Amino acid sequence: METLIPTINRLQEVFLTVGAEIVQLPQIVVVGSQSSGKSSVLESLVGRDFLPRGSGIVTRRPLVLQLVNVPPMQERLKIENGNGIKQNAPNSYPGVRAEEWGTFLHCKNQIFTDFQEIRQEIEAETERGSGDNKGISPEAIYLKIFSPKVLNLTLVDLPGITKVPVGDQPEDIEAQVQEMILSFISNPNCLILAVSPANSDLATSDALKLAREVDPDGRRTLLVVSKLDLMDAGTDALEVLLGRVIPVRLGIIGVVNRSQHDINTQKSLEDSMKDEQVFLQRHYPSLASRAGSRYLAKTLSRLLMHHIRDCLPDLKTRVTVLSAQYQARLNSYGQPVEDHSATLLQIVTKFASDYCNTIEGTARHIQTSELCGGARICY
Ligand code: GDP
Ligand code: NA
Ligand code: MG
Repeated sequence: METLIPTINRLQEVFLTVGAEIVQLPQIVVVGSQSSGKSSVLESLVGRDFLPRGSGIVTRRPLVLQLVNVPPMQERLKIENGNGIKQNAPNSYPGVRAEEWGTFLHCKNQIFTDFQEIRQEIEAETERGSGDNKGISPEAIYLKIFSPKVLNLTLVDLPGITKVPVGDQPEDIEAQVQEMILSFISNPNCLILAVSPANSDLATSDALKLAREVDPDGRRTLLVVSKLDLMDAGTDALEVLLGRVIPVRLGIIGVVNRSQHDINTQKSLEDSMKDEQVFLQRHYPSLASRAGSRYLAKTLSRLLMHHIRDCLPDLKTRVTVLSAQYQARLNSYGQPVEDHSATLLQIVTKFASDYCNTIEGTARHIQTSELCGGARICY
């Protein structure tokens, strides 16, 4: 799947060249009841520890997390020193000496290379916007994560659905949170990750209920069943995971995230993923290859690829039209061609037709590609 990153970067260039809008990958939004494991799921998708998680209401403002693909640091340094191929300037990030880093909209010019500090800043900014007593706010926090290992993609973490006001929460907390969630998931270009814990009844899932409101046909809802490890002795989630309780068109994926104890003892994401696989093998052997955080990441990648594939025919039409226009103008110059602008047009035409090949190659790649594993969406 690493091949998907350069391909998409090239495609973005084509889009720019033909003046079309950049491929808008769907935003991925997590919804679910409070403490169902939404922030944990997002973190495992990004492959880094940086989100505040915990029992009770921890996520109290929307967090819009924009992943930005950048060249590896070595390449950026070459560009900076003038020895590399000059790419689009905004991709060079002069002065940043890190492979992966983050920036916040509210902290202009500050580069965060320490992901613990990113988490602290999210916490501090949450308090600035919604107080220190469990208040919520619809004002989003905007965070960008730059890395060579991510796809250009936006993920949104949201406060959970909650019924009874605590602390400084308003009487109508449930309605306010629902409205906040709906404002994100009603966007038709958003993929809904509905997170529902395995230790509560799926039929009462707030996540699925809200998702159904905006996506009744289930075209853009994926169900994530968290906390498989916390089910009562003698019960399991097999029927749920097989879709026999409530079918979900895009799929139902069971995961085991880090427990509160794991968080307190700073268990690494890698160890957590390993243990998750062991757990799945032991308890759900028949499903182990279709469950877990890695499989969730793979599934999301596949859905994103389908989306891109759906955009390709239109893109190809645009490039073909553009190319035909240039060709017609070229022909109107007649022979021999000496005019400088004609030569330039020839180059552009060649460029466009090369791009057409790229697009066809991409379409083939997407159709035939076998998705490989990897914790991150981007792999
Ligand atoms: P959110 O409120 O939906 O964002 O949920 P968090 O990701 O903050 O998680 C809430 C709490 O549940 C934290 O203490 C997590 O450690 C714990 N948690 C989340 N997912 C799992 C899971 O799959 N298994 C276990 N044992 N704990 C989990
Ligand atoms: Na929580
Ligand atoms: Mg959360």
